[in-house]
Amino acid sequence: MHQRQSLHAFLTGALVLAVAVAAPAAADAPPGPDPLITNVDGRRTTSLDGIWRTIVDAFETGYYDYRYQPRADGYFLDRKAEDETDRVEYSFDTSPTLLVPGDWNTQRESLLLYEGTVWYRRTFDDPRESGTSRLFVWFGAVASKAHVFLNGELLGVHEGAFTPFNFEITDRVKPTDNVLVVKADNARRPEAVPTLDFDWWNYGGITRPVRLVEVPGTFIRDFVVQLAKGSRDRVRGWVTLDGTKAGQEVTVRIAEAGISETATTDGGGRAAFDFPARLDLWSPEDPKLYDVEVAAGQDVVQDRIGFRSLETRGTTILLNGKAVFLRGICVHGEAPYRSGRAFGVDDARTLLGWVKALGGNFVRLAHYPHDEAMLREADRMGLLVWSEIPVYWAIRWESPDTLDNARTQLTESITRDRNRASIALWSVANETPISDPRNAFLKALVDRVRELDDTRLVTAALERGEPEGDTQVIDDPFGKHLDVIGCNEYVGWYDGLAEKADRVSWRSVYEKPHIMSEWGAGARYGRHGTTRTRWSEEFQAEVYRRQAEMLDRIPFLAGTSPWLLMDFRSPHRLLPGVQDGWNRKGVVSDRGERKKAFFVLREWYGRLAEGER
Ligand code: GCU
Repeated sequence: MHQRQSLHAFLTGALVLAVAVAAPAAADAPPGPDPLITNVDGRRTTSLDGIWRTIVDAFETGYYDYRYQPRADGYFLDRKAEDETDRVEYSFDTSPTLLVPGDWNTQRESLLLYEGTVWYRRTFDDPRESGTSRLFVWFGAVASKAHVFLNGELLGVHEGAFTPFNFEITDRVKPTDNVLVVKADNARRPEAVPTLDFDWWNYGGITRPVRLVEVPGTFIRDFVVQLAKGSRDRVRGWVTLDGTKAGQEVTVRIAEAGISETATTDGGGRAAFDFPARLDLWSPEDPKLYDVEVAAGQDVVQDRIGFRSLETRGTTILLNGKAVFLRGICVHGEAPYRSGRAFGVDDARTLLGWVKALGGNFVRLAHYPHDEAMLREADRMGLLVWSEIPVYWAIRWESPDTLDNARTQLTESITRDRNRASIALWSVANETPISDPRNAFLKALVDRVRELDDTRLVTAALERGEPEGDTQVIDDPFGKHLDVIGCNEYVGWYDGLAEKADRVSWRSVYEKPHIMSEWGAGARYGRHGTTRTRWSEEFQAEVYRRQAEMLDRIPFLAGTSPWLLMDFRSPHRLLPGVQDGWNRKGVVSDRGERKKAFFVLREWYGRLAEGER
């Protein structure tokens, strides 16, 4: 017995020690954001956009002590020298400013290539009139890891440069002079998503709007109102409440369609809906949006929602039951004219206006979730959207933390956008090398999409397999988990010259719709030569001409999105006088100048729109 007891005591002790050793790590893990509040524009908000005080902190001295441990004294949280003897080695009040929203790289020459931490601070008064309402601080995006502090206390941490997040501050906010501090850190990390290497500029900062969101004690946190999968005359969805959850009556109204449906929440605060509806269906040709109102108790939220159905049949995509060919182009979140991270309705209208000018009905928003304004403008203008998370190139496939990061970004992206009619496809990856760990990682993401949204198509931008002579082969094993196969190829640019496209044919192992999700060539606007002069507009236009003829010969092609609409900054692109830190594969320059390839693509899309496919 003694032996067993001592062994038992030893094991228990070891277990306690192990837990104790583990606990500090777990206890130190800062809290994440609160569940996402959707449709913020349809709520009572106060903007915190504008001028914020900022401190560039390359060595993170405001966060770590000289033993490189997180400071206990919560430094850089707006402490002021109390008297002439006090030693405080920073001051927001006398530090320079940055505009929010906006990347720091294009606001200050010295920050163009800066990667690291910038501290942001602004103050605000409590905007609430009624003492019973609740208050959240909501961020459209912070690139790319944000520690958020209010009045010297850490609210929590968010990772991911392209998705929204919020923290409840109801019990922490003071009537006046609240101090909001954000530690924004865009340092690249091997375990992050994306990882160390990507072909776009690493813009950092509070790159999208910041809002105070005021809601009643019990409020509508999230809702889905969409056509049921496979139906064109039934609406299926749900509403989730936060606060008093069970037994609450919830109403969904679509007044223009004479619809008012009521349901009661379950114990988890969720009320499900499923009702017949005769609605004008949304399409690129007729982007019909309805005013939808969701009400529960004191909370009423309005949204503008389009209703359409999507499915595949063999190698065809069906929109509202009819075959559709996706005439698209890829778009980066690069701001037209001013450069920098795009945000807001003006950038969205400019970029998507160019897609419509091409005769496009489709846009691939590469390689990460874009600002919500882009999706709302795509809804309004009538463009189908390929939405993507930045699982790009060589991610750390075997890291559980990396998978959690990717899955969280995917969840935030779908939660934000799943009422947007424009979104047709959720993409889980771009050009990822084939391996078992990569297949398992991506399969977990596809499973998550199916959990969150069974009404849209799942895809990924895959790469070609080994060619068979002049036959390009699409046989990535991961394609079996996808509804639509995306494939990137650069025949004529990275692979031979333009005329190579004339002799290339394509074979796929999948009887599914395919989207040629990237192809193209680079050209400096205004640079001219022959069709063989690399970097000339003529060279780029010739690649577009030959590619269009090649793509027209692929029977299983359901759409395409050449790379890409507009030139964008990238540290990969170093050719002086031609690239100068810009990827020049746009058919439009960053100054809005249309290259010859723009007109080749527009002519081809005009023929396709006339049904020549
Ligand atoms: C790749 C990649 C893009 C990149 C492009 C290029 O296909 O997906 O992000 O910018 O090629 O080389 O220009």
